[in-house]
Amino acid sequence: PTLTPFVDPLTIPPTIDVSTGVQVTLGAYKITQKLHSELPATTLYAYGTSEKTASLPGPTLEATRHKPAHVRFENHIPDSETFLITDTTIHWANPARGGVPIVTHLHGAEAPSDSDGHPDGWFTARGETGHKFVTQNYTYPNSQVAATLWYHDHTVGITRNNVLAGLAGFYIIRSPSEEPRNLPSGRFEVPLMIQDKQLWTNGSINFPDVGDSPDNHPNWCPEYFGDIMLVNGVAWPHLDVYRAKYRFRIVNAANARFLTLSLSEPSLQFIQIGTDGGFLPFPMYLDNLTMAPGYRTDVIVDFSRLPVGTAVYLNNSAPAPFPSGDPDFSPPSTNSVMAFRVVREPAGFRIPQFAVPRTMGPMPVPSYDSKSVMRRSLTLVENDDADGNPLGAVLNNHTWMDPVTETPKVGSVEIWEIINFTPDAHPIHIHLIQFLFLNQQAFNQTAHDAGDCTLDEDFPHPESCFVESPQRPDLTQVGWKDTVIVWPSKVTRLWIKWTPRDGLPFPFNPVSGPGYVWHCHILDHEDNDMMRPLAMLY
Ligand code: C2O
Ligand code: CU
Repeated sequence: PTLTPFVDPLTIPPTIDVSTGVQVTLGAYKITQKLHSELPATTLYAYGTSEKTASLPGPTLEATRHKPAHVRFENHIPDSETFLITDTTIHWANPARGGVPIVTHLHGAEAPSDSDGHPDGWFTARGETGHKFVTQNYTYPNSQVAATLWYHDHTVGITRNNVLAGLAGFYIIRSPSEEPRNLPSGRFEVPLMIQDKQLWTNGSINFPDVGDSPDNHPNWCPEYFGDIMLVNGVAWPHLDVYRAKYRFRIVNAANARFLTLSLSEPSLQFIQIGTDGGFLPFPMYLDNLTMAPGYRTDVIVDFSRLPVGTAVYLNNSAPAPFPSGDPDFSPPSTNSVMAFRVVREPAGFRIPQFAVPRTMGPMPVPSYDSKSVMRRSLTLVENDDADGNPLGAVLNNHTWMDPVTETPKVGSVEIWEIINFTPDAHPIHIHLIQFLFLNQQAFNQTAHDAGDCTLDEDFPHPESCFVESPQRPDLTQVGWKDTVIVWPSKVTRLWIKWTPRDGLPFPFNPVSGPGYVWHCHILDHEDNDMMRPLAMLY
């Protein structure tokens, strides 16, 4: 359908305070919701406290540091199967009695594994559970620093279906005494969940039922890209803003689309103050923000010097797939995301004077003992059949069902060296901890594939495949991350300490329970074997 952009106002999801210690119940419901005023309502699965209030995004859960939150998840989806086709040739939950399995992961949380939303910990409305199911009653310790997290479905083999159907929401950890003062707040603090979808003119989601590789996977596509950009479940919304500083907490909740966001008004920049794991050490003034699926950025945008009546567009220029690009997957409609319209504040309304902090805390240092540190070399490889049809990509030549190989010791430091032999970037996400980007290093893949050089020798050794020395992180890779873009033909090295960041022991036992996972956050990849178990050892 052709939809008029920027006619619908941005909606802000309702909030639920989870800091009181009282258990909050969040159900998954089948609902309909209008994604654009010119479209009939769309059938979705969505989180809410009741069928009436369930929405895309789900309610924003507001947590306070050091106050554990208790969330009970329920499944009220009545369908006997998901309305977005399941590819049964990939490993998936496959409940014997039917129904739509769900399990919810709090992305970015330092949480016990029985509350982490293990992909095999799913459950259906009919009472059937996956083999790693422990409980529907989750506890989030919230011992970590203030950050923008998000929750979403994580069911094995159908995460892409369930998230596309609407199962995602924000989770914000606040720490009033530790946060910079005078940040934009109240109506000036706005969560933005960006997704893309394909919709039919009747409003329903177009999820292809024919895969790219029908002989292998009849319904699976390597990446789902939509031509309609949604923010908080509204296609190309607008937000009326006063001449003030605003704080936007942005999450890329797309199945596969990377975003490179920019503002159409040249005098404006993103003032990035936070990333996945919390505040940056200092603000970064950026003209654009590249965000892979799973990424969060916390930015201030200062509209205060713009004349009333100015329209500012939030644009996207990331190729899809990223970064190789295929014009079919990034039509012009995906180049704009939403509009900000500068309006006059009501008479008598005094705009608060918000501040951009000069610093937000110490620079985290990735320190380790190079002799004793555990190094893991992990490859990303794409597998094709004999005719060149994609079978899927895998992590270190293992599939989801292979026995666990990543078994870090609690408290240890590891360097993960992820080598991307595929033609595109993959956003690699690790559960339980926040890590630091150490460096990345490009290599000559053609020479490598021809066997003309080796990655075992470092640059500039004559036999080395590397074409440069290790490169320090750029501005978008600084700070605590849980998801990182691993570029093609590069080795990306991460510093991981398997403890909470304050150095204290975990406030729970990370070894007991069903374990954790690490995976690619392109959901179509994650569902098709680009995910591995992660088990902690003492
Ligand atoms: Cu946002 Cu394991 O996922
Ligand atoms: Cu991937």
